[in-house]
Amino acid sequence: MNDPLRTRIVTAPQPGGPEALRLEEVTLDPPGPGEILIRVAASGVNRPDIIERMGFYPPPPGAPKGLGLEVSGHVLALGEGVKGFDSGQPVCALVAGGGYADIARAPAGSVLPVPRGVDLVNAAGLPETVFTVWTNVFEAGALRPGERFLVHGGSSGIGTTAIQMAKAHGAIVIATAGSAQKCAACRRLGADHVFNYREEDWLEGVKAAGGADVILDMVGGDYVAKNLAALNRFGRLVQIAFLNGSRVEIDLMGVMLKRQTITGSTLRARSHEEKAAIASAVRQHVWPWIEAGQVRPLIDSTYPLADVAKAHERMDSMAHAGKILLVA
Ligand SMILES: NC(=O)c1ccc[n+]([C@@H]2O[C@H](COP(=O)([O-])OP(=O)(O)OC[C@H]3O[C@@H](n4cnc5c(N)ncnc54)[C@H](OP(=O)(O)O)[C@@H]3O)[C@@H](O)[C@H]2O)c1
Repeated sequence: MNDPLRTRIVTAPQPGGPEALRLEEVTLDPPGPGEILIRVAASGVNRPDIIERMGFYPPPPGAPKGLGLEVSGHVLALGEGVKGFDSGQPVCALVAGGGYADIARAPAGSVLPVPRGVDLVNAAGLPETVFTVWTNVFEAGALRPGERFLVHGGSSGIGTTAIQMAKAHGAIVIATAGSAQKCAACRRLGADHVFNYREEDWLEGVKAAGGADVILDMVGGDYVAKNLAALNRFGRLVQIAFLNGSRVEIDLMGVMLKRQTITGSTLRARSHEEKAAIASAVRQHVWPWIEAGQVRPLIDSTYPLADVAKAHERMDSMAHAGKILLVA
């Protein structure tokens, strides 16, 4: 690699709507020790990218420049000390930034082979949601087969992945979503009970369905008290976002009497070592579900990288179900 590597990246120099996004061309340094450069086939669009574009989610220190948290593609170059990957191998990876690009930089511990049976482009829709669901539902939430699992935002990228992973694990799955079409998408993915939160009282529905042992919530706000009411004895509430606000007033009496746990986490700011540990667990437990056809990325739409603003408009509209991808 003697010639300098050039890549397009996407930035939002001034916070704002999709029109704030800019395609820039930059020169890339060669991969550092422990890093892999990936010739990108596709990048996943995630809601944290929208929040970053709006100026509310600064990248962690040391993150590659530009938006984008997950990619698929071929290994282009290996940094010193990287073992277990070959040049040209198809991979997908979690990246701390710079995923909307022609070439992306990933720590080797966050790179995985594309699961057998998954199209290379569609594989870009796996890392961010699979890592997030694994660490929150299976590690923090300790979901067990036979337990009742509730996910809000069931048709989101995270939700569609959570429904399938929980079903593959043998849980009874309950989901909420905001339209009849989105509820139908959740049912097709295997959800046993689905509630349209705009038309019915999901809390009463969940209680009637036997309550929940683990809840994955991205809504926050008034959902927190309702989630605790829906949660069974020894239940675990795992908070991954607060679309309706992070400041709430709750009565802790029920938490004490029902011996419930409230927890949560964020993925992007974690160390390379923590992400590598999640990647290793995902490869061991989730990749076999994907290769057996029990879990697959549900793709809503794909856009050329140059049309990134249109992809963000689609996510801003909340009309999507599943993942939105950018093809480099
Ligand atoms: N903590 C972490 O590590 C982590 C990692 C990745 C993502 N996240 C968070 O997880 C969430 C999902 O991410 P994503 O990329 O999958 O986003 P996404 O596909 O855009 O999904 C957002 C979902 O939220 C639902 N929603 C919006 N407002 C709602 C409300 N007031 N009440 C109920 N549902 C509402 C929407 O569906 P409806 O039409 O049904 O309302 C939509 O399906 C985001 O908030 C993101 O920031 C957290």
